[in-house]
Amino acid sequence: MSKLIINGKNKLYGKVDVKSAKNAILPLIASCVLLDFEVGFLNCNEIGDVSVMLDIIKSLGGKYRYEGDTLFVDCSSVYIPELPCELSKKIRASVFLLGPLLARFRKVSAVTPGGCNFGERPIGMHLDGLKMLGAEVSGSEHLYLRAEKLTGAKIELPFPSVGVTENLIMASCLAEGETVIINSAKEPEIACLCSFLNRLGAKIYGAGTSRITVHGVKKLTNKISYFKPITDRIEVGTYMLATLNTGGEVEISGANFLHNTSLIKKIYNNTCKISLESDKIYLKCCGVGNGLGFIKTAPYPSFPTDLQSPLLAYACSLNGKTVIEEGVFKNRFAIANELKKMNANIYIDGNRAVINGTNRLHGAVLNASDLRSGAGLIISALGAEGVSEISGLEVIERGYFEIDKKLKQLGADITKG
Ligand code: UD1
Repeated sequence: MSKLIINGKNKLYGKVDVKSAKNAILPLIASCVLLDFEVGFLNCNEIGDVSVMLDIIKSLGGKYRYEGDTLFVDCSSVYIPELPCELSKKIRASVFLLGPLLARFRKVSAVTPGGCNFGERPIGMHLDGLKMLGAEVSGSEHLYLRAEKLTGAKIELPFPSVGVTENLIMASCLAEGETVIINSAKEPEIACLCSFLNRLGAKIYGAGTSRITVHGVKKLTNKISYFKPITDRIEVGTYMLATLNTGGEVEISGANFLHNTSLIKKIYNNTCKISLESDKIYLKCCGVGNGLGFIKTAPYPSFPTDLQSPLLAYACSLNGKTVIEEGVFKNRFAIANELKKMNANIYIDGNRAVINGTNRLHGAVLNASDLRSGAGLIISALGAEGVSEISGLEVIERGYFEIDKKLKQLGADITKG
């Protein structure tokens, strides 16, 4: 297992660039199954989860290639409507293929997906939604979905799930008639997927709102050569928090600040200067900030659960108290026990973390058990006194491209071990 070794207390200075969002590119790749031509996605990095998704596409009979940072995906030759067991277990996003494979082949077999380990991650809502469109589902660990045809339906989600919204959009854009998804998720990655599909000829209305309407079409026939996905707001947020935690000054390019409004509101005026441009965030830390008060993670546009661990890590070294309530994945506090090894003062009470900041965090031997807690540990280690060793680098690399190199360029004392 590879690890990162970080000697803390070096301020981050300089420029860092963020590329296409992991959570945008994964459903975009899945949606290529609906197409019989090649599409190029611009501005892409080969992060771990994307590589696994591409291996799955290959095992279905599809092809991909990179030209520089453009990823070309060609699913015209996909012929196997069967998700490979081992690869699917590696990433949660494999579930995004159920909708498009069902739309293309009217049948699909799969295993329940894997992914980051932060408690139960059921797929019942995906299956219920696909059933409403006409799928018959059998099996439990091994799933078989079949549909003579997909027919539009009115589907009200019990929770605005990102993945379910995306899966149902992909399945319904080739269904017969109109589908209405009520209580749909509003994340920018969904709007990105819809704008891609609409350019190809889909008829999707209301993306970015809690009611999405899809008028089914027979085929997506508008060939486009390139599409530019949105950039990674979680990676942007991670670099923002890392900058603040080290007391540095960094310009993040490729950042759409509108997608990070909930984080910016929290840190604005808290001993830092921020200036925002259309595709840049400039951040200058002017001292140790105060505790952040109460924050609850919830679906977009609220504070994202994916930045909860990075924020928690930052809160550990502020002056005063922060209370974080996790409103999406109730048990997503694996980072807390690791941070306690660094002398952090954190108390977990159900789905709440109470953090009393201290300026006495020190390096420790740590383990990244999931992607975002790994990012949080890096943030803490960068600001702590002394050396930290973070194992589980491959988990972090699922979503962060060359994070060690980018941080080193900003002045961090960081090496891969
Ligand atoms: C996506 C993101 C992930 C992010 C999450 C929430 C991708 C690739 N991943 O994951 O980074 O943390 O959104 O913003 O885009 N649920 C059910 N049954 C289901 C599906 C979901 O109960 O069938 C629950 C989940 O357990 C969770 C909530 O719904 O409590 C939200 O999860 P969801 O939005 O579906 O997350 P993902 O789409 O898997």
